[in-house]
Amino acid sequence: MQFTFINASVRDPAQCPGNTETLARAAAQALPAGTPQRWLRLADLQLAPFVDQRHSVGEYPAPTGDLALLAQATLDATDLVFVSPVYWYSLPAPLKLYLDHWSAWMRVPELDFKARMATKTLWLITTSGDRAKAQAMIDSVHLCAQFLSMRWGGALWAKGGAPGVVAADGMALAEAAQWWSGDALGKTLAN
Ligand SMILES: Cc1cc2nc3c(=O)[nH]c(=O)nc-3n(C[C@H](O)[C@H](O)[C@H](O)COP(=O)(O)O)c2cc1C
Repeated sequence: MQFTFINASVRDPAQCPGNTETLARAAAQALPAGTPQRWLRLADLQLAPFVDQRHSVGEYPAPTGDLALLAQATLDATDLVFVSPVYWYSLPAPLKLYLDHWSAWMRVPELDFKARMATKTLWLITTSGDRAKAQAMIDSVHLCAQFLSMRWGGALWAKGGAPGVVAADGMALAEAAQWWSGDALGKTLAN
């Protein structure tokens, strides 16, 4: 197993801790001891703009720089966890850009991206002002998993807002503590 956490919050953690990362770290504590974890913060990476050349050049060159790092981290994961607040009922721009690059990576022959993604599980850990406002984003990530034939692990949500607010969502934190224990992880292992 290799759990790779992709943090899409654009809060500066040196200034104030992100609610979504706090929730994700609570969930990660339930992973079996020794489970390899990698945490990446998209805001720390330089991601080039995505260019749609599917119907002009066709193929894409192998990614370079931070995109290469991100592609490799993605492909190395058995379990990919989007740690992402809801922005405007949707995905934060850095996460959207990362996903746009999946479209390029699918067309880099040596990455074998589509076939390898189909062996992975995609999870979403998210916070927002209220649960209903997160639904479009949850559906969107679920559809991305389906598009690449990934197993959908599900979405863990908590009420966010100002830094630290998530600590008041006891129900969500209790859910986080169980998120990867027992059945949920068992299903991951079985698939
Ligand atoms: C640009 C931006 C857009 C947001 N849009 C929504 C929204 O559409 N619905 C909502 O409920 N909360 C929205 N929020 C609130 C965040 O989802 C919430 O504060 C979240 O907990 C932030 O996560 P973080 O602390 O991990 O950065 C928005 C926040 C920002 C900065």
